[in-house]
Amino acid sequence: MSAALEDSLSAALTRLLEPLGQAHLLRFWGELSTEQRQRLALQIRSIDWDTFTTLTAAEAGQQDWEQVAGQVSPPQALSLLEQANPQRLRAAVAAGEEALAEGKVGFILVAGGQGSRLGFEHPKGMFPIGPVSGRSLFQILLEHARARGLRAGVSVPVYIMTSPQTDSETRQFLQANRWFGYPEDDVRIFCQGVIPAVDRQTHQILLAEKDELFVNPDGHGGCLAALARSGLLEEMRQRGIEQLFYGQVDNPLLQVCQPALLGHHLLSGSEVTTQVVRKTDPGQRVGNVVRWQGRTQIIEYSDIPPSLAAQRNAGGELRFWAGSIAVHVFAREFLERCAAQAETLPFHRALKKVACLDGQGRRIQPAEPNAIKFERFIFDLLPHAREAIVVEVDPALGFAAVKNAPPAPAETPEWVQAAISRLHRHWLRQAGAEVSDNLPVEISPFVALDSADLMGRIRSGESFTEPLWWGPE
Ligand code: UD1
Repeated sequence: MSAALEDSLSAALTRLLEPLGQAHLLRFWGELSTEQRQRLALQIRSIDWDTFTTLTAAEAGQQDWEQVAGQVSPPQALSLLEQANPQRLRAAVAAGEEALAEGKVGFILVAGGQGSRLGFEHPKGMFPIGPVSGRSLFQILLEHARARGLRAGVSVPVYIMTSPQTDSETRQFLQANRWFGYPEDDVRIFCQGVIPAVDRQTHQILLAEKDELFVNPDGHGGCLAALARSGLLEEMRQRGIEQLFYGQVDNPLLQVCQPALLGHHLLSGSEVTTQVVRKTDPGQRVGNVVRWQGRTQIIEYSDIPPSLAAQRNAGGELRFWAGSIAVHVFAREFLERCAAQAETLPFHRALKKVACLDGQGRRIQPAEPNAIKFERFIFDLLPHAREAIVVEVDPALGFAAVKNAPPAPAETPEWVQAAISRLHRHWLRQAGAEVSDNLPVEISPFVALDSADLMGRIRSGESFTEPLWWGPE
């Protein structure tokens, strides 16, 4: 690029950034090489400035739950007891199985996060978690989806959301493992967008390098825009997918495309169905499903006023008992309707420590949160649904997410492995086996998806005393 062109590029960028109060991004322009200037210009131009200005202009999207706490009530939910009603359960399972067999169900897996909190600097989905097999989260979840599809005589397509940090390593990993037996065409990988983080005082965008803005993934809510942008929403429509089962990569007990859940969703004409567990502790780090203004909503654990979380019924149970495990079923048409209105999902703010450059170009490692990061949450779609239902699940069957490194008391890899073994030991015992307590046990989804699948497969008096991996024949 000639010097004149570089000058005109800098002038054009200044015209764009000055009115936005972000001209400091060009502060080091004079020190940059031609390639660095082009790289910076490209990044600045790729930002959706219309959206960005709405974020910093106002305290947008921040619901003050303290203020409206008196108006919030617990959600109506299909409890475990109600689901156990044999007639209702049979009808739900049949409806779910029919939708699966007709090829109307897809699986969205959000996997934009890295395993940093676990000391694992790779996509979290690559983390080995199988208590005996050492299978990764990706393998466990993809095999579960494939086994579910085989049962219904179809291949359930999987849509995996990555972030710029996890995208290429995820693709390489899945390719190297031949998509864990999936036809390549049925595993679609799409990358979420990013959004700049700003200085908490000045609202100026932080510089990661002299030629690079600090950006972070736009939250799992970014999945909606990314599905639309990548053409996958359209592809789902063409393929005849009508319902999307949605889950997070950190939960190896995820009951992928469980027919009963799909069936409850279908039979009630729900646009979004969300699975919850009964909270046992007011401070549990799960989103709180509530009713507010006639709509079902989720108040994130970091946002719920402690006084609200601590309320108890006369019987002593937590009044706000419904903890989100981030498992949803979405009607595809609902996602299309929401994707067409870009502003549907608000951005949430979080104060974070972000290493960045100061005005002199020196690197700062802040001791206190210095930045505001913005993120969209997919569960903010709930209040937009014409009909949304809430379905309880027993956490022992469907929720053990790996989030923390030891010595945390819960949600560590060891804690999650223990939960998998406990469930699979329970299946074996239900089927008549004797199993030593605390024995590591892991059963492939191609062998069993629940305890009923093991019935009749245990010899009378059979006992297990050695760690067991029961894989496909
Ligand atoms: C999340 C939920 C919480 C729920 C809990 C259940 C949020 C804000 N909160 O909490 O309500 O009770 O899970 O386990 O989600 N992800 C992306 N891209 C992003 C951000 C996240 O793909 O930009 C994915 C991650 O890979 C991960 C999942 O979303 O699989 C959850 O994100 P995380 O930030 O770990 O949420 P939690 O605090 O665990």
